[in-house]
Amino acid sequence: MPSPVSSLHQPPVADVTNASPVDPVDASKEKKPTVLESHGYTLGKTIGNGSYATVRMAQSERHEGNVAIKIVSKFSAPADYLKKFLPREIEVVKGLRHPNLIRFLQAIETTHRVYIIMEYADNGSLLDIIRKDQLIDETRARKWFKQLVYAIDYCHDRGVVHRDVKCENLLMDEGWNVKLSDFGFARGHMKPKNGNPILSETYCGSYAYASPEILRGIPYQPQHADIWSMGVVLFAMVFGRLPFDDSDYKELIKQVSSKVVFPKDPKVSVNCKSLINKILSPLKSRIRISGIRIDSWFSYEEDQAAGSSKERRSSTESEDDRRSSLDPDTIVPPDIITKEQLESKARPRGSKRYSTDEEETVKTEDPTRSDTEDSSKGNTTGKQKRQSK
Ligand SMILES: Nc1ncnc2c1ncn2[C@@H]1O[C@H](COP(=O)(O)OP(=O)(O)O)[C@@H](O)[C@H]1O
Ligand SMILES: [Mg+2]
Repeated sequence: MPSPVSSLHQPPVADVTNASPVDPVDASKEKKPTVLESHGYTLGKTIGNGSYATVRMAQSERHEGNVAIKIVSKFSAPADYLKKFLPREIEVVKGLRHPNLIRFLQAIETTHRVYIIMEYADNGSLLDIIRKDQLIDETRARKWFKQLVYAIDYCHDRGVVHRDVKCENLLMDEGWNVKLSDFGFARGHMKPKNGNPILSETYCGSYAYASPEILRGIPYQPQHADIWSMGVVLFAMVFGRLPFDDSDYKELIKQVSSKVVFPKDPKVSVNCKSLINKILSPLKSRIRISGIRIDSWFSYEEDQAAGSSKERRSSTESEDDRRSSLDPDTIVPPDIITKEQLESKARPRGSKRYSTDEEETVKTEDPTRSDTEDSSKGNTTGKQKRQSK
């Protein structure tokens, strides 16, 4: 069985220096530190209840501040998730480092749980902001959309596809910058080989953000599906609602196969709608990231600074192309794996309680240290780490 944490590295679970000089009778009464405590983390409040993970804030001595810890119980998470998606998530995130990605700090596997320790984002998710503000003005939307595009471009460049881009997974740091998170459905090694794309056959994510090719259940190029999802995010920001209604599959297929319908209100610029149109297009005519980067709405500030008077291009989509491929009556809905679905296969939460006293570290994974280093002794500061590439 693949292990969620691949490299072996075992710091001591209990701090033996606490026990030795004290009277043995008293020492036996002293509470053994939990695994997280022994790694220098003090757990705080719950900040997210994911599908099968709880995310809690923690204080970290080593990172000199708050971190977020995703806690997955080996006893209640679904087997598919534990064997397939969670190991991939750890494998993928440990190789990524970008200002618009939540930074992975450490993974600890114990007999009972898997802990993923990561950078903490202070300001909630983009979904929270849209709910609160109802919609995002184009200036802010542009800034956040750009940051999302940069993050995804960086991932794709390294052969990583996210496959679950949505407003809930775009977190905001203390400076209100986007931090893409939740690589639970991500995959690595997806860079085209000799010009041949590598196709995905696992249909995952959320229906409302799924591209037409995913909804059709045909092997798909996940990079282009990520781009589609980014278009859904952009639409959601500027209109304050999702472009497609995912409550009925046939209706959804119809909607994603037709020209995007823009609400009359709020007023959104022609250029922004044009970019959304170019993204929410059929695969053949869908804009690539290189195209997004030179789009006039996307690069507006740069253009203005340069005094450019670029012609406003109209949408490049081809209507024939858009309408050709999807007939809702003939398509069998693919088995899209959503986290909700995986969850329903999981054992009920809290069906059995496991004491943290019995929990022991099995493995740790820590990109900031070498394997030979003892992670309990490290004293590298967050600042030092941010500087070293
Ligand atoms: N690094 C983080 N900083 C702040 N909040 C986070 C962080 N990671 C996750 N969360 C919160 O926990 C929720 C669930 O985490 P996520 O990784 O998306 O798990 P799931 O796979 O269950 O969607 C998020 O929607 C967010 O509210
Ligand atoms: Mg999530």
